[in-house]
Amino acid sequence: MYILTYRVCFGGIRLKILSAKDYSEMSSIAAEIIANIVKEKPDAVLGLATGNTPIGMYKKLIEMYKAGEVDFSKVKTVNLDEYVGLGADDQNSYRAYMNKNLFSGINIDINNTNVPNGLAADIEAECKRYEDVIKRLGSQDIQVLGIGVNGHIGFNEPSITFNKGTHVVELTDSTIGVNSKIFKNLAAGAKAITMGIKNIMNAKQILLIADGDSKKDILRKALYGEITPNVPASVLQLHPNVTVVEACGLGIK
Ligand code: F6R
Repeated sequence: MYILTYRVCFGGIRLKILSAKDYSEMSSIAAEIIANIVKEKPDAVLGLATGNTPIGMYKKLIEMYKAGEVDFSKVKTVNLDEYVGLGADDQNSYRAYMNKNLFSGINIDINNTNVPNGLAADIEAECKRYEDVIKRLGSQDIQVLGIGVNGHIGFNEPSITFNKGTHVVELTDSTIGVNSKIFKNLAAGAKAITMGIKNIMNAKQILLIADGDSKKDILRKALYGEITPNVPASVLQLHPNVTVVEACGLGIK
C-alpha cells in the first residue's frame, strides 16, 4: 500500500507523490501508469529513461505484455539521452540498455524507437536531428524520468538555465563518479547528448521515479525546495501534470 501526498506548488499546481513501500511496489505502480496510457492511446509517444531505477518498471511492462494486457505495436518512443562515443554494440550504451531491458521483450517496432546516436560523426548535427525527431513525434504522452543525486534529469546537470533543447553536455564529476562503476575507461562516460529541459517540460505528463536512501534528500529538495536550474528537477514544480513514484522513504514522516 502506498501513501498519496499532494504537494501544492506556486500557482496551484499539484504534484502527485505516491510513496511506495519498496522498489517492487514503485516499479509496479509506474508500469501500471504507462500501461494505462498505452491502453487508452495505442499509438502513444513514450519518453523513456535508462539507469538502474526503471529496470524493475520495464520488467513489469514486459510481464504485462506477455500476459496479453498491453500491446506496444503502435507505440513510439523517444529516449532522454546517450553517451557520446557509444553505439548499440557497446553494452554500456543506452541504446543497448533499451534493447535489452525493454524493446526485446515487447512487440514494439524497433523503427519506432529513438535514442540519440552517440556515434554520430557530427555531434551538433545529431542534436539538431534528434530535436527534429522530437518535434515530429509531437509532445510525449508521458515522459519517464529518474533523478541524479545532484538533481539532474536526463543529463541536464545543475546549470544556470532551464531553457535548452537537445544538446551536448559535459557530465559533472558527481555523475562521472556514479558512472565510474560502469565505465573502466572514464573518457567514455564524460560527455552525453541529452534531451533538454525544454523538451522534457513539453511532455503532456511526467512520471518521475526514485528509489533508495541516496535519493531522498535531493528528491525532497526538488519537490519542496526553491525552483532553480541548480537543482534541475525542481523545474517539475512548474509542470501541470507530474506524478512522482518514490521508494526513498519520503512518505514516511
Ligand atoms: C537516464 C538519465 C538519468 C538517470 C539518473 C538516475 O536516462 O537520464 O537522468 O535517470 O542518473 O539514474 P539511476 O536510476 O541509475 O539512479
